[in-house]
Amino acid sequence: MGKIVIVDYGSQYTQLIARKTRDLRVFSEVVTATSQPNLEDISGLILSGGPFSVYDPRAPRIPDWVKPLIEKEVPILGICYGFQLLTQYFGGRVDRAHSSEYGRMPIVRQGENPLFDGIDRSLTVWMSHGDSVLELPPGFAICALSENEIIASAFHVKDPIYGLQFHPEVNHTEFGDRIFSNFLFKICRCTPDWTLKDFIAIERENLRATIGTQRAVCAVSGGVDSTVAAVLAHQAIGSQLTGVFVDTGLLRKNEDAVVPDLLRRSFGLNLRVVNARETFLARLAGVVDPEEKRKIIGETFIRVFESEAREIGSPPFLIQGTIYSDVIESAGTLGGGTIKIKTHHNVGGLPQDMRFKIVEPLRFLFKDEVRRAGAILNIPEQILARHPFPGPGMAIRCLGEVTSDRVRILKEVDAIFLQTLHEFGWKEKVWQAFAVLLPLKSVGVAGDQRAYGNVVALRSVDSSDAMTADWSRIPYHILDEAARRIINRVAEVGRVVYDITAKPPATIEWE
Ligand code: XMP
Repeated sequence: MGKIVIVDYGSQYTQLIARKTRDLRVFSEVVTATSQPNLEDISGLILSGGPFSVYDPRAPRIPDWVKPLIEKEVPILGICYGFQLLTQYFGGRVDRAHSSEYGRMPIVRQGENPLFDGIDRSLTVWMSHGDSVLELPPGFAICALSENEIIASAFHVKDPIYGLQFHPEVNHTEFGDRIFSNFLFKICRCTPDWTLKDFIAIERENLRATIGTQRAVCAVSGGVDSTVAAVLAHQAIGSQLTGVFVDTGLLRKNEDAVVPDLLRRSFGLNLRVVNARETFLARLAGVVDPEEKRKIIGETFIRVFESEAREIGSPPFLIQGTIYSDVIESAGTLGGGTIKIKTHHNVGGLPQDMRFKIVEPLRFLFKDEVRRAGAILNIPEQILARHPFPGPGMAIRCLGEVTSDRVRILKEVDAIFLQTLHEFGWKEKVWQAFAVLLPLKSVGVAGDQRAYGNVVALRSVDSSDAMTADWSRIPYHILDEAARRIINRVAEVGRVVYDITAKPPATIEWE
């Protein structure tokens, strides 16, 4: 075993460092420069890149807890800003160089060292720096120079301290994986034995130890993260956990019944379903502005959840399905070691004044790892493979006013579209598909009569992270089938259109 601790100095690539170590089956934990990590079984330390200059007095430094690690000869790898910090720490000089380096850059290695074992003499790496190491500290030697004669890598000749000016975690760097495996296995002597199963077992134990004989509550939406967190916590503390499922009335058709039933039946989760449909509809009455809708839904959710928690005697612990990217986003680089309560993914924010102690068993996992963890916990594919669903739900797909009638129409259309895609094997192929009810009516002809019905748009997108997306090239005959079913089964709908806009310039949701 043995873990790698990664200090995050704010680089956009820190998540990739964590990911690389996990992919090599070594457990890694990302911490901020101000946190106090558990160093018990540390095998190595990585200092990430970051947007700072080491000579800025406000720039984050090497934490005090690193000093004893250096004395114990725990291997350290500094990447970009991390390398510059190490240089400064040991008495070298960092400053603006004659040239900045951004993007692909050829470098040439000098001499031998274990970090570059098995790697070509000349290679292309990914650079992104304005400052450079201009003078190495005593005891350090160059191990690679860039085309611009800038120090691309250096190491301590006796101690296991290494620095890279470039980013081995970025795929554009040739031999990046090899550099990581050299560091982990040749230098840190880690063993590639980390599995998600171990992780789950450890987190289960941690939950037991943290919560003891007390009680905890969790909000479950039926989404992947909250379900995996709830099931894991349930395995750990059983009936001490109460799940709260808030039925906003804005979920997909039948989910208010299917999701709680599945969670209770498959996992025996002690689940309270709060029917808050009327409350949500009443608060949304007359509201057409999308941001206003979001705000109202977020606040209403909080109040409903709070009052439910009080009903069950205000358990001291709140289990949240916060995942890795949320932790990093909410903590911030200089976060002072406190992890803010994450903006609730599905509902828009649990309040700071809720006096819960937050427990986040999935905080070190990436989304795809959470899905794999879910499979290990026997959570049905039906939940794990779900399309993302926005917290404000149907309210932001019901353009214009949100009324119970309009939501009912939209849910029907949405269900028909998804069912049709599923029958043709397309639901599983696309990132996210849904229907949108437009605030328009359009003329048609039905049974020789003039008709004047609602217009719905179908949207289906392909994406890998929802940041960018393209419309799905669903074959015409499937779209045709979906449109005919919708028109025939939902009397209020007179016209169906398909959205062929990419993101950007559009967004995935219409509101
Ligand atoms: P956009 O519309 O911004 O959506 O391209 C990107 C992804 O985020 C989801 N989404 C939301 N999720 N609360 C959420 O929890 C929201 O207010 C929200 N708005 C959009 C959207 O479904 C897509 O997957």
